Amino acid sequence: MTHEPGIITPYTRRSFLRRSVGALGAAAIAGALDPAKFAHGAATSEELKIALVGCGGRGSGAVLDAMSTLNQGPLKLVAVADVFEDRLKGAVNNFKTKHPKSVDVPQDRQFLGFDAYKQAISAADVVILTTPPGFRPMMFEEAVRQGKHVFMEKPVATDAAGIRQVLAAAAEAKKKGLKVGVGLQRHHSKGYQETIKRLQDGAIGDLVSMRAYWNGATPWVNPRAKLETKAGRKLTEMEYQMRNWYYFTWICGDHICEQHIHNLDVINWAKGFKYPVRAQGLGGAEVRVGMDYGEIFDHHAVEFEYEDGARCFSYCRHIVGCWNSVSEHAQGTKGTSEIGRNVITPKDGEAWRYRGGERNAYEQEHSDLYDAIRNNKDYNEAENGAMSTMTAILGRMATYSGQMVEMEKALKSEISIFPKNLAWDAEMPVKPGADGNYPRAIPGKTKV
Ligand SMILES: NC(=O)c1ccc[n+]([C@@H]2O[C@H](COP(=O)([O-])OP(=O)(O)OC[C@H]3O[C@@H](n4cnc5c(N)ncnc54)[C@H](O)[C@@H]3O)[C@@H](O)[C@H]2O)c1
Repeated sequence: MTHEPGIITPYTRRSFLRRSVGALGAAAIAGALDPAKFAHGAATSEELKIALVGCGGRGSGAVLDAMSTLNQGPLKLVAVADVFEDRLKGAVNNFKTKHPKSVDVPQDRQFLGFDAYKQAISAADVVILTTPPGFRPMMFEEAVRQGKHVFMEKPVATDAAGIRQVLAAAAEAKKKGLKVGVGLQRHHSKGYQETIKRLQDGAIGDLVSMRAYWNGATPWVNPRAKLETKAGRKLTEMEYQMRNWYYFTWICGDHICEQHIHNLDVINWAKGFKYPVRAQGLGGAEVRVGMDYGEIFDHHAVEFEYEDGARCFSYCRHIVGCWNSVSEHAQGTKGTSEIGRNVITPKDGEAWRYRGGERNAYEQEHSDLYDAIRNNKDYNEAENGAMSTMTAILGRMATYSGQMVEMEKALKSEISIFPKNLAWDAEMPVKPGADGNYPRAIPGKTKV
């Protein structure tokens, strides 16, 4: 299970390619469950069928987190989809070992390829979407179209067009009574919930200045040379970028989007689910450079402005050997809060700290989703997931361009960074130069 730092663990503390499902064929659709089946909640005893799309680290973790809710009612993993067979097989074997009774994924429900998600979705009641984020909008849209409940990881898109697609599908999901969870698990941590409730109730007055950090190490990297040696052949550009996805903006969103979204989302939440109206910032790639590191930056510093004039100062850095922090802080007119440590310090009055118990938030978010499905409670985290993702995208637009960027305008951006065609030999939106290095955004020149 891949867990990110900065979250309390137990007891310690686009479719640009709007394709129809036509290729699926009537037989697969007929096998799909009736979307109205759970309109009034699924009985506790009723088995919910799950499909996993994106069988990597988080996907494997999310399936196990879902299985931690077996005390709430039976579940069965019935289908999986991935683009790479090695990832798919590894995950299936892992599930079979850990939950032999709750896994039923025969060969004919193991789907491979760029369209595999449609088939996996059709076999389930609940779908887990854990591919890299560039694919999320088209997959979420398809899941909602097919009438399925969804757990999808953050971020939910990598550009404004994807955000618009997710917002539209979120509205459709509401109409259909579908339940949607988004992997911003801090919302399911008791410590965060209690702290933010107090902040929203005015424990430190109006929040006027906030700070959000994801300063940490560099994540994994898959150098082309290593991948090609392992494969025994040259990789196509699409294949390489998919294997080394963290370093390409169309699929990852840059690390401000892929990781720092968690902290920006906490600030939006503390502001009462309000989102910044504009942002300006600076960033670049200072240390993490060279052909293996694609096009993303290794640091961003952004000043976000909210409608009431409050500012959030956001910093995210992937450089080894520097001061690290993954945290959120707020300064109010009447005190301060270290939100991530669940501490509130009013100017007048006693400091407060959450000292209650804490269930692993990764499990709790699934528990809350299945409770909503089984008891037909309103549950739709997609809109906030989209707007917090857009907050991070706005920050990236500011650092890539070096301009002050307005949220309203950014949301309407028609600049697409997604490949026009999803195929192993597709023309890619970003390609290496003659020296093997990828071009990066140049503040002052790059248009967003
Ligand atoms: N909430 C959290 O704390 C948390 C933690 C880790 C990762 N995540 C998120 O989970 C997502 C996945 O991250 P990961 O670390 O598991 O990555 P990963 O590379 O381990 O897994 C991604 C999987 O998706 C597959 N895939 C890629 N494109 C696909 C497509 N078009 N169709 C089907 N399968 C496809 C890949 O082959 C791979 O198996 C990311 O959005 C990441 O931000 C969230």
